[in-house]
Amino acid sequence: MNGPNKPRAPRNRTLTLSESEQTVLAQQLLRAPLPGGVAALTDRIVCGDFIELLPQLPKAFVDLLILDPPYNLTKRFGAESFRERSLAEYEAWFADWFVRVLPLLKPTASLYVCGDWKSSAAVHRVLDRHVIVRNRITWEREKGRGAKTNWKNASEDIWFATVSNAYRFNVDAVKLKRRVIAPYRENGQPKDWQDEADGPFRLTHPSNLWTDLTVPFWSMPENTDHPTQKPEKLMAKLLLASSREGDFVFDPFLGSGTTAVVARKLGRRFLGIEMEERFACLAAKRVALANDAPSIQGYTGGVFWERNTLNVQPKPTTPAADAHPMLLESLAPYRATKSKAK
Ligand SMILES: C[S@@+](CC[C@H](N)C(=O)[O-])C[C@H]1O[C@@H](n2cnc3c(N)ncnc32)[C@H](O)[C@@H]1O
Repeated sequence: MNGPNKPRAPRNRTLTLSESEQTVLAQQLLRAPLPGGVAALTDRIVCGDFIELLPQLPKAFVDLLILDPPYNLTKRFGAESFRERSLAEYEAWFADWFVRVLPLLKPTASLYVCGDWKSSAAVHRVLDRHVIVRNRITWEREKGRGAKTNWKNASEDIWFATVSNAYRFNVDAVKLKRRVIAPYRENGQPKDWQDEADGPFRLTHPSNLWTDLTVPFWSMPENTDHPTQKPEKLMAKLLLASSREGDFVFDPFLGSGTTAVVARKLGRRFLGIEMEERFACLAAKRVALANDAPSIQGYTGGVFWERNTLNVQPKPTTPAADAHPMLLESLAPYRATKSKAK
């Protein structure tokens, strides 16, 4: 993570964390030993190694589990690094803690597990042994390094699974609004599309191939210096499809806090765990800001929009995150007023 004092371009909206902010926010984090009971863990961020903390977590409290573990790549996360290993070793590492996460889930729970093409195969094998695998979402990353002797890697996977057949899936909450290229009329009337001021649009059922996401970058207010931050829009799809307002979302690899931020914006309860204090504090800062800036880029008017449609989307009525006067006093505690991004 770059230091907060690194000079940045004037239009760079990356959210940073000063040392004094970290000092204050670090006091709001939970640490081992964790308090007992679900209420004391609601809407909190824990700083610690979640694998060590597993025995201290309540049983059967999770409605939706989001797992975005380190992929099988050598990668530095703050002070800690994840070392690439063989696929079999990665599978064993994942399986070892995954089976211990299962008792935390309600029988109606859904789970999503992120991975790249390599780690994804191991993830699937483990999931297949313990839960009901329902789908694999593939999403396109626009960014990606070209390779001279291979295809450029420009996609990632998210496995969707449930604990049982008694699960919820709210398809109407995750419809995608697309511009219609060849608008067809029947008896002069639009067939399955709407004639809008900015052209013909159609609400479509979401598929398992997502091409409408933008990986956060420097001019987006949600961007941070976390090396593997997920887009809020991606997380909003998972939460809206597979949880209801008030449901409990658990993310033990919280990173920069995307799951917690989106949970706060969509009125879900959350618990996040992150072992790097700096990232845990960054997540806490994002959650505090989310109270005043509940919009999610690419999700307005209760629908998801294709990429590059900002000019035709209804404007959010709330101030942008970077317009917030970022003073320490204004960092509200996590349990401040809940706000929804609808
Ligand atoms: C792939 S990133 C998650 C990114 C996150 N979804 C976001 O949008 O920012 C994985 C995160 O898990 C953290 N991590 C790795 N092992 C952990 C562990 N055993 N306990 C808690 N956090 C861990 C890393 O520090 C890293 O920030």
